[in-house]
Amino acid sequence: MSRIEIRNLVKMYGAHQALHGIDISIQPGEFCVLVGPSGCGKSTTLRMVAGLETISGGEIAIGERVVNGLRPKERGIAMVFQNYALYPAKTVYNNMAFSLQLSRMPKPEIDRRVREVADILELTPLLERKPGALSGGQRQRVAMGRAIVRDPEVFLFDEPLSNLDAKLRGQMRAEIKRLHQRLQNTIIYVTHDQVEAMTLADRIVIMRDGKIEQQGTPDAIFHDPDTVFVAGFMGSPPMNLVDCMVTPTGLKLGDSEIACATPDGLRAGARVICGIRPDDIRPAADQPGRATATVPVDLIEQLGTEKLVHFRAGQHSMIGKTGGRVDLAEGAPHPLAFDMAHAYFFDPDTERRIR
Ligand SMILES: Nc1ncnc2c1ncn2[C@@H]1O[C@H](COP(=O)(O)OP(=O)(O)OP(=O)(O)O)[C@@H](O)[C@H]1O
Ligand SMILES: [Mg+2]
Repeated sequence: MSRIEIRNLVKMYGAHQALHGIDISIQPGEFCVLVGPSGCGKSTTLRMVAGLETISGGEIAIGERVVNGLRPKERGIAMVFQNYALYPAKTVYNNMAFSLQLSRMPKPEIDRRVREVADILELTPLLERKPGALSGGQRQRVAMGRAIVRDPEVFLFDEPLSNLDAKLRGQMRAEIKRLHQRLQNTIIYVTHDQVEAMTLADRIVIMRDGKIEQQGTPDAIFHDPDTVFVAGFMGSPPMNLVDCMVTPTGLKLGDSEIACATPDGLRAGARVICGIRPDDIRPAADQPGRATATVPVDLIEQLGTEKLVHFRAGQHSMIGKTGGRVDLAEGAPHPLAFDMAHAYFFDPDTERRIR
């Protein structure tokens, strides 16, 4: 187990600056997930830790060593990519054994390691098959096995599950979590998938335009966002984020007034962005005592255990939730209750949280 320190990391691709000085401190055994929109610099960061990209500025340390000048092989890392090319002509056993054979490890030791890892990943019955005769999820497990047998200090994953269908992805996600509980390696894991980020991470790092927008535990990222961007990034459907005007008694949201406490320092007439999760907007009949507004419901989406209630507030389209068995008519006004104790307020100019 090694700690990883990334200090003021900068990446230039010619004149294009892909990373603007990022700092991440990952504890030994920690599972760190990098998330953010396409092009924000996740893969670049990972590839620099791996030694596959040069470092334009700053420092990366793995364990006690600064690794800036070390070749990938010398860094004690193993990486699993989105496109994990297995050797098609080799058996599962030999795919997993290959890097150890290259390093001239004694045969009995190779055999012991491959069989142990195959056992962990439930690949034992498949050891003599070739990749062409495996399912997507099995191939994925072989790719992981190939990394694990090397017993690296650090695992780097770049969207390893994005080629799998939803069901397999869910299974592999649980598999990776179990693996981490068992092996306790330090992991940096890149994903687009916020469910993967929330379920796997000890620490989530949200990146945007080559900078870190916020980092923290999944709990802190979800429940305590610093910015509008983070608030809107995690959660499905995402948090409603709407321009409001502060009134003497609360907020004016479209044509409705909602009674609530607003942060000190916000005067009546001020503009504010109010964030409220769909979970915190429910039919008023279920939530006596809460601030209510009667709003036009224009669409109901049935998800099974729940329904999403789409409605309009001024020029904003918003989403609330109700139980799957509740009957609500589309196209009719409906009283909805807003749990304003769980609302967030952001400055419309800086998009930063007002606490
Ligand atoms: N070899 C390269 N040469 C020039 N620019 C590059 C190169 N590799 C990446 N970039 C640019 O650097 C930025 C960060 O790219 P990166 O691959 O790290 O994004 P990402 O966060 O992994 O995105 P995605 O989610 O789409 O994989 C992008 O603007 C990209 O166009
Ligand atoms: Mg990428």
